[in-house]
Amino acid sequence: RPVLSVASECVPLLKTGGLADVVGALPRAMAEQGWHMRVLMPAYPGLTKTLGKAKTLWSAEDLFGGPARVLAGAVSGIEVLLLDAPHLYDRKGGPYSDDSGDFPDNPERFAALSWVAAEIAKDGLSDGWRPEVVHCHDWQAGFAPAYIRYAGIADVRSVLTIHNIAFQGHAPRDRMAALRLPEEEFTQDGLEYWGNLSSLKAGLVTADAITTVSPTYANELMRGAYGLGLEGVIAARASDLHGILDGVDVQVWSPEADPAIHPYTSRALGEKAKNRAALLKEFGLGEVPGPLAIVVSRLTTQKGLDLIPSCLSEFTWRGGGLIVLGSGDPQIEMAFRHEATLNPPRVAVRIGYDEALSHRMFAGGDAVLVPSRFEPCGLTQMYGLRYGTVPLVAATGGLNDTVIDANPAALDAGVATGVVFHPTDRLALEQALRRLVTLHSDSRTWRQMQRNGMKAQLDWSRASAAYAGLYEGLFE
Ligand code: ADP
Ligand code: GLC
Repeated sequence: RPVLSVASECVPLLKTGGLADVVGALPRAMAEQGWHMRVLMPAYPGLTKTLGKAKTLWSAEDLFGGPARVLAGAVSGIEVLLLDAPHLYDRKGGPYSDDSGDFPDNPERFAALSWVAAEIAKDGLSDGWRPEVVHCHDWQAGFAPAYIRYAGIADVRSVLTIHNIAFQGHAPRDRMAALRLPEEEFTQDGLEYWGNLSSLKAGLVTADAITTVSPTYANELMRGAYGLGLEGVIAARASDLHGILDGVDVQVWSPEADPAIHPYTSRALGEKAKNRAALLKEFGLGEVPGPLAIVVSRLTTQKGLDLIPSCLSEFTWRGGGLIVLGSGDPQIEMAFRHEATLNPPRVAVRIGYDEALSHRMFAGGDAVLVPSRFEPCGLTQMYGLRYGTVPLVAATGGLNDTVIDANPAALDAGVATGVVFHPTDRLALEQALRRLVTLHSDSRTWRQMQRNGMKAQLDWSRASAAYAGLYEGLFE
């Protein structure tokens, strides 16, 4: 059965975060459930040539101020529909912003993407393909369920997935007409959000079902501290809300078959030591007798990484080491750089984005730190589990749903996979790092935690079955 996935990023075409990993993994996972998924995304510069011989399956003379067409092709086995609209997407910078900040026409740029999704839902593409379900991701696709609803397309169902509620797609009210939205929908239970428009809210009130990327985050979203103003809207739809944990692309993330590393398995963990030694050498670190911790992340306050620097002198004094790969908030970048200059044998930082290096880090590290303030799902703690790199995480969102804390009960039962701490503050993080050092010094317990993590079922099969069940349920 046909399903259209609508998003602003998709691996391998364009990625700024975990959203792209998930959008890129879903088509293969859903195919195994009998759902034929095509992915609609903007044709950012350079993307159309990756399609090879592309076919034009839809076109319009005027899409929010210029001509547009949908080009279809395949990339790494994913059926991609690129929305080619040069006036909206052919420009320098990232997908959402350039050096001078967010693009001022972002509301139009992503409303256009959503509009085309609704057009495809209404009339199908010129090759006869028409979706039964439109699966929308985050604020960029938030208007799609609204356009579908307002156009009265009754035989197509819409699903909105919240990957991160921190981004809500606000736009001034006076853009309504330009965005082709009916004025009478500007109400409190409609599109209105504190006097403005919000595309995420539009999706939340009009989609047939809402999902988010972990069961814990689904609960958190209905509360003030996490819902960021939309908690009431989400709580009102609690019976249509589903927390479906993301999976990991195990073809890319498996230590026994990873071309970027010295391969190893849970039975021959000794081989992991080669990766550790190589990583220490690559970063010019000295001997690290305690746990070698890694961070691979956007450096933002969401991720709680600003809490780490002040904990480092004690952690390294106890034998630990740290390697950070990431970029983002200049203050956090500077704080890590500063720590590296204070303690060059134990702390190293690489500012930037480097996929291959991230694999070497997961293979060579002993532990991965994810002290997020909120984390809808989180992928890096799962990569850690797969690589026997013990996750130390805050008890929030998907972190809470994927890591089993090494508390006395879990250790007794032999099921622990990491260290989970709460709340996300400096005191709790310091305490968690102390526990990490102690656990690491007990090599039998540590080995067992590594093995437990490596055995965890993290592939996409559970999530895809859940999405398939959800899609099918919408027609009952
Ligand atoms: P988020 O989407 O909030 O950034 P996730 O944990 O869901 O967090 O996904 C982040 C993804 O980006 C992971 O695949 C992670 O490995 C990758 N990543 C983040 N920063 C870097 C970096 N500097 N270099 C390489 N990969 C990175
Ligand atoms: C968002 C969230 C992250 C999640 C990812 C994929 O980027 O911040 O926690 O893993 O989406 O769902």
